[in-house]
Amino acid sequence: MAEATKRYLHTKISLFCFTFFPEFVVAFFFCSFRYAVVTGANKGIGLETVRQLASNGITVVLTARDEKRGLEAFDKLKESGLTGQVVFHQLDVADPASVASLADFIKTQLGKLDILVNNAGIGGVGLDSDAFKASENSGGGEGANIDWTKFLTETYPLTEECLQINYYGSKRTAEALIPLL
Ligand SMILES: NC(=O)c1ccc[n+]([C@@H]2O[C@H](COP(=O)([O-])OP(=O)(O)OC[C@H]3O[C@@H](n4cnc5c(N)ncnc54)[C@H](OP(=O)(O)O)[C@@H]3O)[C@@H](O)[C@H]2O)c1
Repeated sequence: MAEATKRYLHTKISLFCFTFFPEFVVAFFFCSFRYAVVTGANKGIGLETVRQLASNGITVVLTARDEKRGLEAFDKLKESGLTGQVVFHQLDVADPASVASLADFIKTQLGKLDILVNNAGIGGVGLDSDAFKASENSGGGEGANIDWTKFLTETYPLTEECLQINYYGSKRTAEALIPLL
């Protein structure tokens, strides 16, 4: 079929749909958008995940527990021209009220969710960064050869915080958002 004929038919069919089935057309239009949430997205893997999803035409909710750090990350993306597909919302996965507020935002403002990236997390250990840097400078090994026991400390409060964020925070976020997926 010639290109001009295809275009003519496409226009005619679109006009017909808009005239007789406007609700269907509007519903189809909104369904064709895809929405993602990335937790802990003000830096690191989370921020890069937002960038990649947005670069692929997905509308992404960039979330961060600290509003200032989140908005700074949002501004970084704005500089690379991605703000059209990125919105910011505060989210501390360790805070049930914050998770509920995000779920409400998605439900009322976006209507649905397609992708949840449960990225927020902490290492749950203390790092003696001065000793680590000194060891690096004196050629103390790389990757698997590093003796981490010299630089890392594990304490009960840090382990508890890690469980609260990495396990219960992810679980809480999934439970609140899966019904919208
Ligand atoms: N990079 C690795 O080699 C590696 C290896 C194993 C697992 N991981 C896991 O992969 C994920 C990303 O790693 P990454 O290297 O990108 O880590 P990262 O640079 O430390 O980023 C972690 C992100 O999680 C956020 N976060 C921490 N607690 C939170 C909370 N309660 N609510 C919401 N956000 C919170 C941090 O926010 P703040 O800036 O406010 O702290 C930050 O934005 C983490 O879960 C990490 O544990 C990474």
